[in-house]
Amino acid sequence: MTDLHSSLDRHIEDLLDVPSFPPPAAFVRQAVVTDDGVFDAAADAEEWWSEQARTRIDWATPFRTGCNDSNPPFFTWFEDGTLNASYNCLDRHVEAGRGDRVAFHWHGEEGEQRTITYAELLADVQRLANALRERGVRKGDVVGIYLPMIPEVVVAMLACARIGAPHTVVFGGFAPSSVAERLEVSNAVALITVDGARRKGRTTPTKAAVDDAIADLSDLHTVVVVRATGVTCPMTDGRDVFYDAALAAADPVCPADPMPAEHPLFLLYSSGSTAKPKGIVHTTGGYLTGVATTHSLVFDLKPDTDVFWCTADVGWITGHSYIVYGPLANGATSVMFEGAPDYPDKDIWWELIERYGVTIFYTAPTAIRACMKWGSEYPARHDLSSLRLLGTVGEPINPKAWVWYHTVIGGGRCPIVDTWWQTETGAIMISTLPGLQPAKPGSAGLPLPGVRAALLTPSGEDAGDDPGYLVLTAPWPAMLRTLHGDDQRYVETYFSTFGPRTYVVGDSARRDRDGYISIIGRIDDVINVSGHRLSTAEVESALVSHAAVAEAAAIGVHDELTGQAIVAFVTLRAGVESSAELEATLREHVAQRIGKLARPQRMIFVADLPKTRSGKIMRRLIRDVAEGRELGDVTTLGDPTVMAALQAQVVRP
Ligand code: WT7
Repeated sequence: MTDLHSSLDRHIEDLLDVPSFPPPAAFVRQAVVTDDGVFDAAADAEEWWSEQARTRIDWATPFRTGCNDSNPPFFTWFEDGTLNASYNCLDRHVEAGRGDRVAFHWHGEEGEQRTITYAELLADVQRLANALRERGVRKGDVVGIYLPMIPEVVVAMLACARIGAPHTVVFGGFAPSSVAERLEVSNAVALITVDGARRKGRTTPTKAAVDDAIADLSDLHTVVVVRATGVTCPMTDGRDVFYDAALAAADPVCPADPMPAEHPLFLLYSSGSTAKPKGIVHTTGGYLTGVATTHSLVFDLKPDTDVFWCTADVGWITGHSYIVYGPLANGATSVMFEGAPDYPDKDIWWELIERYGVTIFYTAPTAIRACMKWGSEYPARHDLSSLRLLGTVGEPINPKAWVWYHTVIGGGRCPIVDTWWQTETGAIMISTLPGLQPAKPGSAGLPLPGVRAALLTPSGEDAGDDPGYLVLTAPWPAMLRTLHGDDQRYVETYFSTFGPRTYVVGDSARRDRDGYISIIGRIDDVINVSGHRLSTAEVESALVSHAAVAEAAAIGVHDELTGQAIVAFVTLRAGVESSAELEATLREHVAQRIGKLARPQRMIFVADLPKTRSGKIMRRLIRDVAEGRELGDVTTLGDPTVMAALQAQVVRP
């Protein structure tokens, strides 16, 4: 065993020096894209995307217009076409005789298994769509979804799509108050939630917890509750209904209602530079085109034979695009797993790959690092030979984790696609095409066909070999259309630096001689913890809402496992003493306000925070202190003595 391990370690060490991994011949022989003519075909991006839209999507009314760019940055795609997203994900496959194909192999936390075919999914979606309609949900009404990783979450999303009610899914890890905030700002009329959610053998009563938070929402007239765990939950007469009862009572037939291509399919709240989350708006025709195209090209999908598994939660964009809309639009078979990667044991993922014969596996670098830390003996317990392609998303992957993934999980035979994209982009934008281009560990690769990217200096020149701001210089179909109810913030956030045709991503990056793009990090106040996006302002506002706190500054610091971790610098109100107990209370307070994912890893109580003369907290300096760096420019500090005191406090254990 020891010998085996040391030889594996040695092998991994050796591979760290390999700069580039060409696609294996066996992979190329069967790949979807093996010819770089695909980039020539996309020389006219608008025509390329229009062709994808025509061939991959079924339209109720064909479109004539590709991109309407007459009012930048408010671009539209295929605006004179109509279609229904749930029709494209379900009906057309059933009509083509593929109703018995498995859409999801669902695997529950306690080992339960459910096989859900396209026909079964369609039946439930029609009933739920009718049930929502009967309760007064109309086209254009927003419906909140707060569900764990159970099949009903897919039914809920597609039922909304069927009747043109934009959904807004809130990640199950967010606190009830965050759910209420999102429902309130989106004027949601209905919520689909669950009695209780399971996590590592424990059940939390979701509905009971959410009830208080939603009590005052005046627009919310309907709450549908999935009975998933049997924990008792309060039900409000006239407002609340159980999901199973609603389905049983509903008419089984609900024809898909064609929507204009630009009808909003969903809102997804994401963190930005302020405490107020941004309601990112995605529309129907362009989004579906983007996810169907990229799911096919980047994942080399063969829908008849592949078993695809994206381990993300549906509450994030990755789950929307590559658990629900992309795979279903393409008629793929997927695995959906309710649980955590280490429950009941740390080999559960590898057990599921073996059990369901997963061929394409898509996960996050932070998860790969955790698995690497747990040890290669867990994957070694299982036969992973069904795998043929691996993917990562959410943050840069360090070469060591890349090589471990390649060697231990991929058996050295699977290409890895490092997919760069964002909630805003809707679909993958930068990646290698696995049958065509070599992978370079740590680099996402090249802009996909139809995607135009550049790296700019602050004054808008080409950054050349230097790091620069990553920008996207042409509109693409799956791009966000605006921020819900806030066109101005949309323009300011993404299009104020280089004009209305240059989308500013918010990442810095560098490009190598082959044009491969490597992401360096965020250029705004966004922290990326385990691939989850949080804003420093959100955490700070949660902290200062506690009576003991005067001021707070949250920063992201490098973390071996989670990429970044949150460190909060806190000044207390006069008369309040710092203590370990208070620290625990404040961490719990943040968990209550936002969710456990936002809990600071470390809290440092300080007498003062460094500020400019105008009173702005200088996060850059705090970051320098926290990461033990030499201090940057301190000349704008209001009170220079603050830094010495701060440094003394941080160094003290
Ligand atoms: C930010 C977007 C898109 C799904 C998950 C996160 C970072 C994303 C990569 C990658 C390096 C990446 C960027 C981006 N990011 N993918 N392959 N390599 N960084 O979605 O919450 O909208 O965050 O995640 O910083 O801007 P998100």
